[in-house]
Amino acid sequence: MNVSEAIEGRQSIRAFDANREVTDAVVTSILTTAGRAPSGSNIQPWHVYVVTGSAQHRITEVCTARYLSGDEGESEYHYYPQNWRQPYIGRRRQTGFGLYGLLGIDKADTAAVQGYRVTNYEFFGAPMGLFFTIDRDMELGSWLDYGMFLQSIMLSARDAGLETCAQAAFCPYYDSVMPLLGAPDEQMLVCGMSLGYPLTEAVVNNYRTERLQAEAFTTFLSD
Ligand SMILES: Cc1cc2nc3c(=O)[nH]c(=O)nc-3n(C[C@H](O)[C@H](O)[C@H](O)COP(=O)(O)O)c2cc1C
Repeated sequence: MNVSEAIEGRQSIRAFDANREVTDAVVTSILTTAGRAPSGSNIQPWHVYVVTGSAQHRITEVCTARYLSGDEGESEYHYYPQNWRQPYIGRRRQTGFGLYGLLGIDKADTAAVQGYRVTNYEFFGAPMGLFFTIDRDMELGSWLDYGMFLQSIMLSARDAGLETCAQAAFCPYYDSVMPLLGAPDEQMLVCGMSLGYPLTEAVVNNYRTERLQAEAFTTFLSD
């Protein structure tokens, strides 16, 4: 797989083969490759927690229970703008409608919406979850570095036949997740990620999101 194929073929996978284990050796290899991601002054501001088995199950249980009890939690950082506006709200809606449409979920059907949301906390069936944290005294530049690291993991995973879904869904429950990870107070939860072999036949995995053409977000200047 060349780099363009890895980038263009990547998509968020939301149904994994629960019976196909991801070994520690495989994830270590992926993380070692991804660790080559650049960071300002090479400070490498990432910490990764890998969860499988009971450790993973405990996180599923606590997040699912909180979500289903109506506890929306509160993330330690704002992933999204506080005031949604165009064109971003439009793109967000398009993505949500596209996914729910494909799954035949009516947004008014609370049970169906909840059922789908819970699959997030079940790591979409993936046998391994990753959690990413950052020291809270790091600045915006390190969050920029973090994005490069995360994308590198996604691409390196593909090279090993695995797929991923990044998950901010865990962030509102950081106060439950971080203690379960044994993460120290000086770290913040950036996001989670499901890692596993995809169930290629699953409908949800056939959702391909759209992108703008480069001309739509690029300004060319000369002279
Ligand atoms: C940092 C980050 C967090 C995300 N969190 C979630 C999540 O919690 N649940 C989910 O289903 N998808 C999540 N996504 C996936 C995005 O919805 C997805 O990347 C976007 O719609 C583009 O689709 P694609 O990844 O298939 O290209 C997240 C993506 C990123 C980069």
